[in-house]
Amino acid sequence: MGKVYYLSKNVVIGLLVLTTISLATIIGLSIAYDKEKSKDRDKPGGGAPDSTTTMHTTMPTPGSIQKEPWDLYRLPDSLVPVFYNVTLWPRLKSNADGLFIFTGHSSVVFKCVKETDLIIIHCNKLNLTNLYGHHAYLRGLGEAAAPPIRKAWLVVKTEYLAIQLGSPLAVGASYELHTAFQGELADDLEGFYRSEYFEDGVKKVVAVSQMEATYARKAFPCFDEPAMKAIFYVTIIHDRTTVALSNGREIDTTNDVIDGVPVRLTAFEGTQRMSTYLLAFIVCDFVYIQSTQNNSLLVRIWARRKAIDDGHGDYALSVTGPILHFYEHYYNVAYPLSKSDQIALPDFNAGAMENWGLVTYRETALLYDPILSSTGNKQRIIAIISHELAHMWFGNLVTMKWWNDLWLNEGFASYVEYLGADYAEPTWNIKDQIILYDVHKGFAVDALASSHPLSRREEEVNDSAQISGMFNVISYSKGAAVLRMLSEFLTEPVFAKGLSSYLITFAFENTVYTDLWDHLQQAVENTPDIRIPDTVHNIMNHWTLQMGFPLVTIDTRTGCVTQNHFLLDPDAVVDRPSEFNYTWIVPIKWMKTGVEQEQYWLLHKTDINSGMRVSGEEWLLANTNVSGYFRVNYDPSNWDRLLSLLNTNHKALSVMNRAQIIDDAFNLARGKIINTTLALKTTKYLSKERDYIPWETALRNFDFYILMFDRSEVYGSLQAYLRKQIQPLFEHFKTITANWTKVPAGHTDQYNQITAVGLACSMGVEGCRVLIESWYRQWMEDPQRNPIHPNLKSTVYCSAIAFGGVEEWDFAWMMFKNATLASEASKLRAAMACTKIPWLLNRYLEYTVDPTKIRKQDTTSTIQHVAQNVVGLPLAWKFVRERWSYIFQQYGKGSFSVSNLISGITKRFSTEFELHELKKFKEDNLYLGFGSATGTLEQAIETTTANFKWVKENKAHVLAWLTEESA
Ligand code: BES
Ligand code: ZN
Repeated sequence: MGKVYYLSKNVVIGLLVLTTISLATIIGLSIAYDKEKSKDRDKPGGGAPDSTTTMHTTMPTPGSIQKEPWDLYRLPDSLVPVFYNVTLWPRLKSNADGLFIFTGHSSVVFKCVKETDLIIIHCNKLNLTNLYGHHAYLRGLGEAAAPPIRKAWLVVKTEYLAIQLGSPLAVGASYELHTAFQGELADDLEGFYRSEYFEDGVKKVVAVSQMEATYARKAFPCFDEPAMKAIFYVTIIHDRTTVALSNGREIDTTNDVIDGVPVRLTAFEGTQRMSTYLLAFIVCDFVYIQSTQNNSLLVRIWARRKAIDDGHGDYALSVTGPILHFYEHYYNVAYPLSKSDQIALPDFNAGAMENWGLVTYRETALLYDPILSSTGNKQRIIAIISHELAHMWFGNLVTMKWWNDLWLNEGFASYVEYLGADYAEPTWNIKDQIILYDVHKGFAVDALASSHPLSRREEEVNDSAQISGMFNVISYSKGAAVLRMLSEFLTEPVFAKGLSSYLITFAFENTVYTDLWDHLQQAVENTPDIRIPDTVHNIMNHWTLQMGFPLVTIDTRTGCVTQNHFLLDPDAVVDRPSEFNYTWIVPIKWMKTGVEQEQYWLLHKTDINSGMRVSGEEWLLANTNVSGYFRVNYDPSNWDRLLSLLNTNHKALSVMNRAQIIDDAFNLARGKIINTTLALKTTKYLSKERDYIPWETALRNFDFYILMFDRSEVYGSLQAYLRKQIQPLFEHFKTITANWTKVPAGHTDQYNQITAVGLACSMGVEGCRVLIESWYRQWMEDPQRNPIHPNLKSTVYCSAIAFGGVEEWDFAWMMFKNATLASEASKLRAAMACTKIPWLLNRYLEYTVDPTKIRKQDTTSTIQHVAQNVVGLPLAWKFVRERWSYIFQQYGKGSFSVSNLISGITKRFSTEFELHELKKFKEDNLYLGFGSATGTLEQAIETTTANFKWVKENKAHVLAWLTEESA
C-alpha cells in the first residue's frame, strides 16, 4: 500500500527532471525545492532518494458485464482539470540503444466535483517514473489532505493511468497530481514525435507534436477529452542551439546544466483555457520571418533555414495578416491570443493542424516558391491557412463537447476557408470552387446507402478509431455544403451575427451543435425582414440527423415539385431508418429564363408551384449556384431547353450552374433516373466552353467513364470524342499563351490550361506528345534549367514518364531526391507512378514502405498514385493485400490515410471479380479490423457493386453514342 505525503501549504513541490535513462533501466529521480520560482514553474535540481517498483499493466477483465470505470473510453465526470505544469525534454540525438526519447514531468491541478476514490487520467505509451513507490504523487491543495494512493496502474486498451485511493477525495477540494515519465520520440507522426531532414548533407532532427485527436496522452498524462479544458504552463528543455515553440509566447529562457548536459529552459506564457488536442510543442533549429499586426499581434512563419532564406515563407506571411483581419471582422471577435505562429514540417501526417497559436503544416501546405511552385500550390496554401485560422475561433475558442460533433468544427472551417481566402485573393473567384471541392465531393459519398448522418450521437463515438473515423468526407465536405446552404438562406449578415453571438457566449467553453442553431435562431428573430418556414433547429435537423440528400424533380409543364432520397444505386438497400422518412425542408433558389425568382421552400414530399410552369422559349433552372445541398431533375422538355441554351448561349448561365447541369445529369444517369445519353449530351457544348469549373466537372464525370472503360473497347471511342471536344480548348490556350510561352492571366484560366494540356495529351491530340517530350528532354539535358512552367509540371512530368522508359524515370527519381522544395518533390513523386513499365511500378511500390526513400507521411498517397495508373492498379492492389497488416499497423491509426488508400484503389473497381476480391479482402482482415477506414470499406463495396451494374447496363449505349458523336 502506498504512503501518504502531505505537504504544507508553503512547501512547494519542486521539480523533477528526468535524466537520460533508457526505457528499460530502473529510474532515479531528482527532487528539489525550487525557491526562486512560483509553483507554476519547475526547475531541475538534484539529490533525491531512488525508489523502484515494477509497473503494472492491466488488461480489462474478459467477460465482465459491469465494466469498471477504467474499461470505459470516456472519462468519469468526477474530476475537472484546472491547470497543468508540463515540462518536456526531447532528445534530438539517439541514446545508447539507438532510441530517440523524451523525458518529462507534469502536474495537473484538478477539482473534485463528485465524490470518488479513483483518479482516471489518460496516459499512453509513457513509462512512468516511480514517485515514492507509485506511478504518481498526489497532494491536496488548501485545507484538503490527499488520500493515500493504494494502487496505480496503466490500462493499455483504454489508455489510462488509474489510481485507486485509500479514501475518497473531498467534493469541492482541489488536488495536484504529479507524474514523471519517459516516452519514445518515434517517427510515428503521433503525439510527441520526431521529424528528420537533411541540411547541407547533415541529418537534422525536429521534435514536434500532433495531438488531435487523442495523442496528447502520448506526450504527458492528461484528461485528454475536448471538454476537459484547462490552462497549460509549458516549459521545454532543449539544446542551446535549438529553439523551442509552444502555443503561448516564450516568456523566459534560462541556461542550465542538467546531468552534465548544457541545456536551455524555455518557459511559455500560460495558455488560454483550452482543450488538450490543441496543444503543440516543437524543438527545432528553424528560422522565421515575422510581421506585426496592429502593433501587438506577433505573426511568424517558421521553416527550415534554407526554405526561409529562399523566401518560401513570404507568401504565407503575406496572406496571414489579411486572413486574420477578415475573421476578426466576420466573427466580430478579436484574435484571442498574443501571437500566431505557423510552421512547416518535413514530416507531418495531415495537411495542417490548428494548434492554438502554433499551427503546424506539411511543407507543401505552407511553403511557396514564386518561381518553382504552381498556381495550384499557391491556392492550396491559402485555402489551408484560411481553414486553420478559421479554427482559431471556431473550434479553438469555442470547442465541441465531444467528437461526435466534429462535423461542425471541420465542416465549418471547410466552408469559411473559402471566405477567408477570397478576402485575401479577391480576383480568384475562389468561392465558386467550393462546388468542386466540397459540394460534389459530399454528394458522391452521401448518395450511397452506406453513408451516415452528419450528426452522431455521443454514445456512438468512443474509442480512438471511431474518433479518427469522424474525420471523413461527410464531416468535411457535406458539413461545409450544408453550412453554406444555411448561410445562403439566412443571408450572410444574419449567419455572421448568430455566429458572433455564439462565439462570444461560449468563449473558452464547449458546446453541442444545437447551441449554434439557438444563436442563429436568435439572429433570425432579431432581423425583421427575414422569413424562414420553420426554426433553424427544425430545418437543420433534416440535413444533419438523416443521411443523404434529396433529388428535387420539377415538372415545368405542371409546376409539380417532388423530392426523393437520391441514391447512386437505386437497388441499394437503405437499412437506416430516418425520423423524417428521407424528406427534407429544401430552400430552392431558382431562375426563369435568366431572371432570379423569389426563393421557394419545398416543405413536403410533393408540392405544386404554379410559378414553375414554363412554356415556349422559357427555361427554368433550380438550385442556382448550387446554393442548396440537393440535385435537380426536370421534365424532358425543360432538359431540352437547357441543353439548347448550353449549345447556343452557355454564358447565360453562371459557371457554377453550367457545372451543376453536367454533374446532376451524369449522376442522375448513374442513378438510372435519366438516360445516359442525356448526360452525355450536356457535354456537347464543351467544345465552346472556356471556363474551368464546368470543364473540371465534366472531366471528373468522364474520369469515371475512363476508369470504367479504359480496359475495354469503349475506350477508343471515348478517346476520340474527348479529343474532339478538347481540341478547341487546347488550340485556344496555345493561341493565348503565344505557343505556350506565356501564362494565361486569369487564375482559373491557368487551371484550365492545365486541364487542356493534360487531357489533350492523354487523348492523343496532335502535337501534344511531341511538345511534352521535348520539354522533358531539355530538362534532362540541363537539369539546372527546367523549361517547364510550374503550372504544367505535374501534367508534363506524368506524361513524359508515361511515354518514356527507365531513363526518364530514373531522372525523375534523382530530381526527387535532390528537390529542396517539397511541392516540387511531390509533383515528381506523383509522376513516377505514371510509368507503364510494370517492374518500375513494382520497385516504386517497394520504395513506398522504405522511409529512407519515401517519407512515411507520403506512403499511402504514393500507393494511390500507382493505383490511379491503369497498369499500376493490379500491382498496387496486390501489394496492399499482401502487406495489409503491416500497412494498417504502420499507417492505419491516423485519420485520412488508410481510408484514402482504400477509396483510391477501389475507385475503378467495376467487375464481379473485383467485387469478389474486395469482399474477400474484407473477410480476410476482419481480425485486424479497418479502424477509421471501416466506413470507407463499406462505401467501396457499395460503389463497386453500383459500378459493376452500371457498366453492364450502359456499356452498349455509351459505345453507340460516343461512336456516333466522334465520327
Ligand atoms: N484538424 C485538422 C487536422 C487533423 C485531421 C487532425 C485529421 C487530426 C486528424 C485540420 O484542421 C484539417 O482539417 N486539416 C486538413 C486541411 C484542410 C484544408 C481540409 C488536412 O489536414 O487535410
Ligand atoms: Zn480543420
